[in-house]
Amino acid sequence: MLTYEPDLDPEDWETSRKLAHHMLDDMFDLLAQAKQGPAWRPIPAEIQAAIREPIPMEAQGLEKVYRDYSDQVLPYSTGNRHPRFFGWVMGTGTVTGMLAEMLKAASNPHMGGFNHSALHVEIEVLRWLSLLLGFPENSSGILVGGGSMANMNGLAVARQQKAPWDVRAEGMFGQPQLTVYASSETHNWLIKACELMGLGRRAIRFIPVNQQGQMDLDSCRTQIQTDLRQGVHPFCIIGNAGTTSTGSIDDLVGQRALANEFGLWFHVDGALGSLAALAPRGAALVQGQELADSLAFDLHKWGYLPFEVACILVRDPQAHRATFAQAPAYLVSADRGISKGTTFFADRGYELSREFRALKVWMALKERGVRHLGEVIQKNIDQSFYLGRLVENHAAFELLSPVCLNVVCFRYNPGGLSEAELEAVNRETLLRIQEQGIAIPSHARIHDQFAIRVCNTNHRTRFSDMDLLLTEIHQMAKKVVREMNLGKE
Ligand SMILES: Cc1ncc(COP(=O)(O)O)c(C=O)c1O
Repeated sequence: MLTYEPDLDPEDWETSRKLAHHMLDDMFDLLAQAKQGPAWRPIPAEIQAAIREPIPMEAQGLEKVYRDYSDQVLPYSTGNRHPRFFGWVMGTGTVTGMLAEMLKAASNPHMGGFNHSALHVEIEVLRWLSLLLGFPENSSGILVGGGSMANMNGLAVARQQKAPWDVRAEGMFGQPQLTVYASSETHNWLIKACELMGLGRRAIRFIPVNQQGQMDLDSCRTQIQTDLRQGVHPFCIIGNAGTTSTGSIDDLVGQRALANEFGLWFHVDGALGSLAALAPRGAALVQGQELADSLAFDLHKWGYLPFEVACILVRDPQAHRATFAQAPAYLVSADRGISKGTTFFADRGYELSREFRALKVWMALKERGVRHLGEVIQKNIDQSFYLGRLVENHAAFELLSPVCLNVVCFRYNPGGLSEAELEAVNRETLLRIQEQGIAIPSHARIHDQFAIRVCNTNHRTRFSDMDLLLTEIHQMAKKVVREMNLGKE
């Protein structure tokens, strides 16, 4: 008989429990004090060196591992917990989200399918999200790791539905070219997805945008007509409910009509902006997204939840299934027991083993209620318009793109500086603001000008943070101008 039967449970449950409580207290302190300290700090060389260590073949113990985490990892995180983190498009995270992650990992259900209650939570969450975003209650959907994955899921359904041959059987080899139409402001998930799906980058027709950053529908129509004349197969129009650089929202109603005109699939990328629909005055901003055949959006951005969770909704459940469903013998369901036929999420996407992402969404929506969440989203919209007005009313600043949602692009421009100098000053100012941990805006290029970009998906931000941000950028920019000997201000 074997006497050595190792497992991975704690050697001493009581000691582990105490340490776990201590960790939880630390994490509560961390989040309660998220406003304190810098928004970001560089990783010292000695910390990087300390993280690099020999493969830990022998036990170090949880206490030591937690100490290493606290000393080496936690202080140098991206900083998106902080109320003045406005870079790229990142959510802030919430206390409930953190707790949900712990509960999820403890119960650790498999969300590919099977007969268990967690599956019903995801089904319910998808039903709520469908209704909240104006999709039919019986839409299909799935929670995935991020907006890129959600969008690719939608594009795959579009291709399966609209290709004039059986894409799943034949693939793309030797077939006519398929083409997809998206504004030039579309996020690069589209390029990656077309490369991965074998469509190739040449499948993408990037359509120019108007002054508001919206797809020019006439150019799109002309391009489709040209493509049709040349014998290629247009299959999908992509609308943006919030572009990454400026938050612009395409004319989604117009895009739906254009897609109908040519019998194309209409997919909306709402990774950044779709959840505006929950805000009291936000639904009008993203009007038309509810008309899409498929809609992708992130909950780890403007839903404030911890990474990773995004959603794809597909209006026609059959179309969704027809793209991904397979029935290998080892997954065929029984009529009783744990493999009794239920919703098989693996039939709605690429992944088989899946985590219980729905738990944090379910808990977040139930705990504070959708109305409250909508008010927080509305606050971010109002704060962004507020910052836009501060910029417009400030003689030393210039707004580079109209504010239409939660993104503000601007630059320091006191007058008298060349374009090259403006770029150098604004770039240096931004880097110093980031490096000193004052705030984390990111940057964008607007009409070939370097912009400081503030994207507000931060539930901790106060209006006063916007005042402080602009004051600090102003002081810093003046200093940079002086140091660069540019002779102004
Ligand atoms: C408009 C847009 N679409 C898609 C994505 C990709 O989302 P994710 O980072 O969740 O994969 C982003 C990310 O910022 C985005 O801004």
